[in-house]
This record gives sequence, C-alpha cells and structure tokens, in this order.
Amino acid sequence: MNTAHVQLSPEARASLPRHVAIIMDGNGRWARQRGLPRIEGHRHGAESARVVVRAAGELGIQYLTLYAFSVENWNRPKEEVDALMKYLLQYLKTETAELQRHNVRLHVIGQIYRLPEAVQTQLQKTVRLLSKNNGLTLIMALSYGGRTEIVEAARSLARKVKAGELDPDDIDEHLFAQHLWTRNIPDPDLLIRTSGEMRVSNFLLWQISYAELVVTPVLWPDFRKAHFYAALEEYARRHRRFGTV
Ligand code: IPE
Ligand code: IPE
Ligand code: MG
Repeated sequence: MNTAHVQLSPEARASLPRHVAIIMDGNGRWARQRGLPRIEGHRHGAESARVVVRAAGELGIQYLTLYAFSVENWNRPKEEVDALMKYLLQYLKTETAELQRHNVRLHVIGQIYRLPEAVQTQLQKTVRLLSKNNGLTLIMALSYGGRTEIVEAARSLARKVKAGELDPDDIDEHLFAQHLWTRNIPDPDLLIRTSGEMRVSNFLLWQISYAELVVTPVLWPDFRKAHFYAALEEYARRHRRFGTV
C-alpha cells in the first residue's frame, strides 16, 4: 500500500471513533518471515505505534488504547519478555518529548506492579510529565488481562460492601465500570486487530461489548497510517445499532 499521500474521506472524518483500541499482533511472524529473531519484530513494532499515535492525535481522536503486553505474555520465554520490557523502556524514553510536543496524555492499565522497576519508574515519570496535556489520551495496556481487571473490580466492590460502605443493591453497570482500570474512559468504539487472528485474547472484555471489530491481515510491524485510515473508513461504513432496530 502506498502510504505517502494517504487521505481520509470526509465521511470517515465526520464519523471518527472517540476511542480506538488496538491489539498489536504479528511481531513474531513478521520477524520469522525475514529469518530474524522474534524480538526484531517487537523492535520494529515500536515504529508502528509511533505512526498510529501521531495519526490518531492529528485526527483529533480522543482515546487510543494499545495492547502492548498481556498477563498471558508473561509465560513467554524470559529472553523475549526481557526484550519486550527493554523496548518498552526505550520507547518511553525516546517518545516522551514527541508525545509532549503532540499534546498527548498517557494513562496505563494493567498490573503495573509486575513490571520491572525501571519500567514502572519511567512510566510514572512520563505520565506525570504529560499530565497537563489535553490532546489524545494514549492508554497503554501493560501486563493487562480483561478477566484480571474484572476480578479486581469485583474484589474492590466486595471490600466496600464488607466495610459497610456499599449496599450490594447499589452495584450497577455504571458503578462496576467505575471500579475497572478504565474508569472514566469511554468504551472503545473501534477495536482493530492486526495479523488476521479473529480473537480478542483477554483484551478489554467488559469494555468492548459494543465495539466495532476490524481485523486486518497486516502484521503489526508493517502497520502504517494507510492501514489505520482503512480501518477508520471501514468503521465509518458500519451501522451501529446497540441492540435496537
Ligand atoms: C504481538 O506480536 C506482540 C505481543 C504480543 C507482545 P506477537 O509476539 O504475538 O507476534 P506473533 O503473534 O507471534 O506473530
Ligand atoms: C495479544 O496477542 C496480546 C497483545 C497484543 C499484547 P497474543 O499474540 O499474545 O495473543 P494470542 O496468543 O494470539 O491469543
Ligand atoms: Mg501474537
């Protein structure tokens, strides 16, 4: 796909999603196709993230969630996990200035406490530095699991009930959502998955109940603005019904 002069149609501009979530998949296959170690795919994937963050910000999309590391991904070989953490740290260090320039705010969801100390420290630093920005909110899902998130929400509600602070009858969808890591963030309108896999892999299970799904065969390290725009065009053509007629 020629990515030099990629344009978004007026129709797609008029019906942009407020929140786009992306399952960035296919790094390992990208590397294997080139006879490279899997981690080379992860290294190249950082550029795709850069491109998408910039494109989303330019369009005025309000929220972009990137699934960078799942709770299940801890089960990968140690060398791969270490490399992923290394590239994550590198990304945060090299991108903070660029994110600042583009008025991006950063929010992190997941079991942050499981991440290496250096990553946690850098995340805190970057989040703080970008906290006054009011452009795109970039949400990084790190050591994230949808089921874990739901269980943690249930646990914190149960604690409040036990402490006598909450009546179980007052638990409704809104209150439940307020106990998720994504509290105060609107649900994704569009969920993109790269590399052709037709599954959600424990991503935002609660939040994607009415998201539009777009799966592209493009492997994440190859994902560029043109592919992002193609997903937005596809989204604009969808007719969302939310269960109504
Ligand atoms: C996505 O690419 C990156 C992470 C899950 C961290 P993969 O590493 O899953 O690549 P494939 O799916 O094996 O090609
Ligand atoms: C989903 O990709 C997790 C991330 C993109 C971070 P995986 O490659 O881990 O998912 P499966 O194993 O194909 O379901
Ligand atoms: Mg994968």
